[in-house]
Amino acid sequence: MTPGPARASEAGSEPNAAPRVVLGVGAGIAAYKVCELLRRLTESGHDVRVVPTADALRFVGEPTWAALSGKPVATGVWDAVSQVPHVRIGQTADLVFVAPATADLLARAAHGLADDLLTNTLLTARCPVVFAPAMHTEMWEHPATQANVATLRARGAIVVDPASGRLTGRDTGPGRLPDPAELFEVARRVLARGGVARDLAGRHVVVSAGGTREALDPVRFLGNRSSGLQGYALARTAVARGARVTLVAANVALPDPAGARVVAVESAEQMRGAVLEAASGKDSGDGPADVVVMAAAVADFRPAAYAGSKIKKRDGAGPAPIALVQNPDILAELGARPHGGQLVVGFAAETDDLLENGRRKLARKGCDLLVVNQVGADLTFGRPDNAAVVLGADGSSTEVPRGPKEALADTVWDLVTARLPERGGS
Ligand code: CTP
Repeated sequence: MTPGPARASEAGSEPNAAPRVVLGVGAGIAAYKVCELLRRLTESGHDVRVVPTADALRFVGEPTWAALSGKPVATGVWDAVSQVPHVRIGQTADLVFVAPATADLLARAAHGLADDLLTNTLLTARCPVVFAPAMHTEMWEHPATQANVATLRARGAIVVDPASGRLTGRDTGPGRLPDPAELFEVARRVLARGGVARDLAGRHVVVSAGGTREALDPVRFLGNRSSGLQGYALARTAVARGARVTLVAANVALPDPAGARVVAVESAEQMRGAVLEAASGKDSGDGPADVVVMAAAVADFRPAAYAGSKIKKRDGAGPAPIALVQNPDILAELGARPHGGQLVVGFAAETDDLLENGRRKLARKGCDLLVVNQVGADLTFGRPDNAAVVLGADGSSTEVPRGPKEALADTVWDLVTARLPERGGS
């Protein structure tokens, strides 16, 4: 399962051929959502072979998978034996994506069982392997399941943490299969990286995104134009590189990235609390973060007083002035504490003298890296693309030409991984 670039390109698709994806389907009710993932994969030019477990067909039948993929569907190793499918399918894949990965399937994969076509495929695949688990919270949190997940991750697989929310029946909690559109993004990004090692595997990253809102009264706030797109691109690319991701999101109207733990906040004060807690690892089992990236636009000021009821027009007296007080600077606080090996990455939104202002800000806020981009009404905010210069505390400067926000995100992670202290295991 550990990917090897040379092996993957030998065994997988020819250059320019449609990428070959094996879609492994486990016996969970969320199998119905995987039809949508399959449709997205085939419509975007992937060559998809669906390999369900026998029990998965109780949830979604063979004709659905066959019709949507345009290929025959088998679950056992005794069909079409002359083509040696139990070996070939895994050997020739560019990506194996398993969704929903049930507790049973994770256990069989972790223990190397080979009792059906899918587990045989997992043993013969040398390409990247992604598991998207879905199950009830108790099963997900059980130490046996967690140990199996840790084993699979240690062997190089990407295990996309399930989303939290409504489960089958009345319960809610972690265990939901993430949105098919977001799973598709994971597949697309992992394929785009080819056989490149998941260099953030075993790392915990914290990313802040969006723009804070500072309440004035029950209906009004001071806010900013940040859409959250850059922070979400950072979270998505980090998941595809194998990281555990905590995404502290302020007022973002975007779907949760698959695999990221999303903590929603509104104000700068709330963001400070959530970021510091996630950075320390106290709020989850993820341990102290290896890196904190402050991509959020945090309001520098907030109203000095919050009016408990809606502020009324004052007849003839004109508008009342709004007194402001300064918010804590979260990035400067992260940079100033002793953070023993934890990298701190900031963003700088500048309208003029980018490099000069950027260098000053990098030093003032004590960060290891600072992504400086030019902002204005029609630059950056809400756009899918971005251009930046990434300054390093070591004096380095990396120019990132205008391109998709995920390309900038990948450059940030490249610079981060080059600076992360070595660490054993995952
Ligand atoms: N930031 C923060 N807390 C604040 C303000 C900003 O953590 N109260 C972080 C942002 O998330 C970003 C970086 O600081 O990573 C730079 O933000 P920017 O608005 O460019 O800098 P300011 O400190 O506000 O400086 P100025 O507005 O004077 O340029």
